[in-house]
Amino acid sequence: MGTETGAAVAAILARCVGNDLNLDAAREALAALFPAGIPRLAAVTGWPLTATRSPLLHNYWCDTLGIEGLYCAIPLPPEAFERGIRTMQSLGFRGSNVTIPHKEAAFALVDRRTRAADRAGAVNTLIFEEDGTITGDCTDGTGYLASLSEAGIAMPRKALVLGAGGASRAICAALLDSGCSLLLANRTTARAAELVEALGGGTVVPWERWPESLPEVSLLVNTTALGMGGQGDYDWSAALGGAAPDLAVSDIVYMPLETPLLAAARARGLATVDGLGMLIHQARPGFAAWFGRMPGEDPAGVTEEGSMAALRARVVATLG
Ligand code: ATR
Repeated sequence: MGTETGAAVAAILARCVGNDLNLDAAREALAALFPAGIPRLAAVTGWPLTATRSPLLHNYWCDTLGIEGLYCAIPLPPEAFERGIRTMQSLGFRGSNVTIPHKEAAFALVDRRTRAADRAGAVNTLIFEEDGTITGDCTDGTGYLASLSEAGIAMPRKALVLGAGGASRAICAALLDSGCSLLLANRTTARAAELVEALGGGTVVPWERWPESLPEVSLLVNTTALGMGGQGDYDWSAALGGAAPDLAVSDIVYMPLETPLLAAARARGLATVDGLGMLIHQARPGFAAWFGRMPGEDPAGVTEEGSMAALRARVVATLG
């Protein structure tokens, strides 16, 4: 099922959230859209939600696994977030991913949270249970660890994380909870100190001096917006001067796929991990909850490596 059908479902939901359709009329509109039966529905919501690749991932898995499912992009401004989620529940959606700026609102909205969500202080995956309650999970940290493993990077004993925002917290929690020691550097030191306090682990290093810590670690993770584009002045090459030859370097953004940090690391012959693996792997638990199969674990045919590589190529093709 394609983008156009997803847009038609999103339009029905938007009219319902905007009081232009009542729930019964919205259910009728959905039934009319799918004369052969309404597929399993899930979504991603955020605002403004222009650049999301999540529908591509989930609808690819529905297609390749032969699942009658449809995953839609539902933009919801902050003031309509809760109403939008309740409407999705009422219309029979199985759940939703949640992205910027709703991850904290989702954390507050749910009836129960996984330990990963509590540790991350945010929810990116909502599972609508049959009893009407909502379970909130955060799959960013485990998705990040899975992306390392997929890239052949061993679980580090000590890592240096740059940045102390929401993404950093999820990754730091997953690293700490896997037994990794953590160094954390952030432009605003107080934010790094708060994160270490909240997670009960890790050591803050001053932002200006993070390169001096490189010889101690086997993984560097950049979660800052630095180097995404437009801020390319940072001298990553000089900063990596003290890296051990076995340092793995990762950046969690995937636009551009090769960030200035990753380019500098590659030029030094270091192993690199881009942000696409995290994007793909954070999506898998939600898909399993909503559509009933864990992508990449298909016993019937396509190897995990093959299907993941094919999906990766599809996403890369959209990055321009
Ligand atoms: P997210 O939730 O996506 O992680 P965020 O909460 O906005 O995003 O955090 C962005 C991170 O990038 C922060 O660690 C921020 O540092 P501050 O806490 O000091 O703001 C970091 N960041 C953004 N621009 C930066 C820059 N030019 N140099 C260094 N760090 C930067």
